[in-house]
Amino acid sequence: NLENQLRPQLLNQYIGQDKVKNNLKVFIEAAKIRNEALDHVLLYGPPGLGKTTLATIIAHEMGVQIKTTSGPAIERPGDLAAILTALEPGDVLFIDEIHRLNRVVEEVLYPAMEDFCLDIVIGKGPTARSVRLDLPPFTLVGATTRAGLLSSPLRDRFGVLSRLDYYTNEDLKKIVTRTAEIYEVELEDEASVELARRSRGTPRIANRLLRRVRDFAQVQGNSYIDYKLAIDALDRLQVDKLGLDHIDHKLLKGIIEKFRGGPVGLDTIAATIGEESHTLEDVYEPYLLQIGFLQRTPRGRMVTYKVYEHFQMEVPE
Ligand code: ADE
Repeated sequence: NLENQLRPQLLNQYIGQDKVKNNLKVFIEAAKIRNEALDHVLLYGPPGLGKTTLATIIAHEMGVQIKTTSGPAIERPGDLAAILTALEPGDVLFIDEIHRLNRVVEEVLYPAMEDFCLDIVIGKGPTARSVRLDLPPFTLVGATTRAGLLSSPLRDRFGVLSRLDYYTNEDLKKIVTRTAEIYEVELEDEASVELARRSRGTPRIANRLLRRVRDFAQVQGNSYIDYKLAIDALDRLQVDKLGLDHIDHKLLKGIIEKFRGGPVGLDTIAATIGEESHTLEDVYEPYLLQIGFLQRTPRGRMVTYKVYEHFQMEVPE
C-alpha cells in the first residue's frame, strides 16, 4: 500500500541526516564483511524524524528480519524472553521508547545485549534455580526522544549512538516532493517550499500536512496543489508561517500572558494550558528551543524577544 511505499527501504533512498546515514553505511558494510550481527544501535532525537524508518532500513540493508516492540509493551522479564528466544541469528529487535523499560526488564536485557544470553529463574523458594539460555546474536535498535532518559548501564551497551537532528527545509522539500509523487498529486514548487517551511523540521509533519492539503485540493475538485491552495489550507489548519500550531501558540502565549514571559516551571505552565508536561517537553519544546523561541533557565522556561516579534507584540523591557 501507499503508506508502506512512503517509508524508504534502503539508506540511499533516505533523505537527510547525512552524518547518521554515512556512519551507518560503514558499520553495516563492515558487519556484513565480517558476517556478524551489527552492533546495537541507539537512535535518539525528537519524534517524527525517522527513527522507526531507520530501524527498518538497517534490517533491510543487513538482509534480516525486524521484530518491533516498545518499552511500555514489555511488562515482565518473561515478555522479553519470549521475544528474544524467537529471534533468528542477525535479526533486528527494535524497541521504541526504550527509556520506558522497567528496571527488572532492563536487567534481563543487559546480558542479552552483551553476551547474547538470558538468565532465567525457574521455580520458587528453596528449589528455585537459575538457568542460562543462549540466544542468537542479534542487533538491538533502541529509539528514544532523549539519550539522557536512559540509565547509563543501558546507554553504555550500545555500540552505535546516533542523534537525529531536525531536517533542513531543503531536505523536507525533497521529502514532500517524493511523497507527492507516490500519492500521484501534482505539487507546485512554491507549494512544496511552503510545506517544508511549515513542518518544524519534521518529515512526519511534512507528510501529514501534505495529506491534509491534498484533502482540501480534492474536495475542490483540484488535482493540482498550487501555492495559493497550499497557503489557504495551511491557514485553515492553523499552522502558522513558522509551522507553529495552536498548542505552540497556547504554550507561548500562556507564558507571556500568565507569567510575564517567564521564567515558569514546566509543570506549572503545562497545568495552566491543560497539556501533559511530558508532551510539551518531548514534542513541543525541542523545536521552540531550536528556533530560539524558548530558553531553559534554572528557574524555568522563558520566551525570547523573537516570540513577541512573531506575534507582533511589543517587546517588554
Ligand atoms: N519519508 C519520511 N522521512 C523520510 C526520509 N528521511 N527520507 C525519505 N523519505 C522519507
